[in-house]
Amino acid sequence: MKLLNLIKKLPEEKNLAIHPRPYFNHSVELKSIFSPEERAKMLQSVGLNVFFFPSEMITGCDLLSDSGVTTMTNEQWAALHLGDEAYGSNRGYFLLIDQIRETFGEEFFNKPGSGRPNAFIFHQGRSCEDALFTLLGKTGSDLIIPSNGHFDTTQANIQINKIQAVNLFSSELKRDKSDSYFKGNMNIQEFKKLLEKSSDKIPLAYLTITNNTAGAQPVSMKNIEEVAELAHKYNVPLFFDACRFAENAWFIKKYERGYTDTEIKKIVKEMFSHVDGFTISFKKDGLVNMGGGLFLKDNGLFIKKYPDSSEMLTNYQIVKEGHPTYGGLSGRDIMALSVGLKIIIKQEYLTYRINQVQEFGEELHKQGVPVLTPIGGHAVYLDVNRFFKDTEMKPGDFGGIALCALLLAAYGHRACELGYFAFGYFDKNTKREIPSEVNFVRFAIPRLRYEKQDLASCAESVKILYEYRHQIPPVKVTYGRDLPLRHFKAKFEFKR
Ligand code: F0G
Repeated sequence: MKLLNLIKKLPEEKNLAIHPRPYFNHSVELKSIFSPEERAKMLQSVGLNVFFFPSEMITGCDLLSDSGVTTMTNEQWAALHLGDEAYGSNRGYFLLIDQIRETFGEEFFNKPGSGRPNAFIFHQGRSCEDALFTLLGKTGSDLIIPSNGHFDTTQANIQINKIQAVNLFSSELKRDKSDSYFKGNMNIQEFKKLLEKSSDKIPLAYLTITNNTAGAQPVSMKNIEEVAELAHKYNVPLFFDACRFAENAWFIKKYERGYTDTEIKKIVKEMFSHVDGFTISFKKDGLVNMGGGLFLKDNGLFIKKYPDSSEMLTNYQIVKEGHPTYGGLSGRDIMALSVGLKIIIKQEYLTYRINQVQEFGEELHKQGVPVLTPIGGHAVYLDVNRFFKDTEMKPGDFGGIALCALLLAAYGHRACELGYFAFGYFDKNTKREIPSEVNFVRFAIPRLRYEKQDLASCAESVKILYEYRHQIPPVKVTYGRDLPLRHFKAKFEFKR
């Protein structure tokens, strides 16, 4: 009692300026230390393409992606050992069924023998996309799939199947002064116009949560509801690209009226109650290094509209990935995923995770480095055009590529250009570069991997390069300018 009285006189724990992490290190990996000279030599030898730079030589933060690079928890490592590698109906499969039903809703995974197959396990997100769009591509011609922002592989998988991919970004996204917390929303007016004109050409509509292509910005529950209502009115099924569903739910709880006291778990269920299916890469909010899935709502509009889809997807899965009870995953992967899905919706984990990303972004913002605000869920997006605004860097000089190369060689931090080079293209007829709508360098933060000090070091390095921006030379493309998906393959050289 005495102790209780005593602590009541102290400032409350929640008022501390710095909070402890809601986890501690369970095992660590010691890094090899390389010098800037060694890194520069290596980067030069791989044509300044950061994808080909050996990760073992990264002394700072590897922020190339948040996908598949999570640090797993001790419970997940323990679960790996319980993995059952049976060729049919392994132990983890049954745990996963229960966990998917618990997380997203019972209607997304029919138990074997009760109802038609409606859940398909794949090895990662893009293979689910291939399965879905291969099926849809066969249902008609001149089809269109609208989204609030397709991810690049999603767009590529749609287009390969001769379907047009349309992005209906929120108008708030481009307004610098906008303080909207939900810049990831779909543009409702544009969606309505498209439905009125061509709803018979739309096999389904997509919402990416959070919106990776639009700066990791979240989508509000209100937008989800409105998009679903409109789509359904025109007999169009709605799907989520659900990679970062838990982070999206956290933003709804934090910023959307009426959700402050609602548990993340309930928000997730409500979000998924509006859709007819979803694809997901579990390499993000599955908290695992590999895994994906395609889930159709039993009795949802998609299954009603395409009654053969269950049979066709099962055949596709068996031919391309494996038996429906393991899909593209090993038994141990499935075990780790079942545990990962339990952890990912924990409020304290999500708060720490998103605050970490936001602190990193705010540190850059405070130093004057132009970043997209508000900061999104899994990554910080540096605005390359504003970064080089008062310099001689031109769009065709690919300042974002130059910045990433310098950051990696000089300070050992790896980021990724997602801008004029990655999303633009070279028009072979006019021999001109066609720039993309957005021009970012993305710093994606892996889950549970880095500490405050690591990210502070990266922020400081970027700040130094910002001060040095007038001296950063342009790059020229020495290989791959006209290739599809060119940023994964191209080579560059500094012009000076
Ligand atoms: N959808 C979204 C929104 C994604 O961000 C990704 C991958 C995918 C689908 C494809 O999933 O990699 O498992 O095949 N995004 C990673 C990134 C690669 O770095 O943003 P996958």
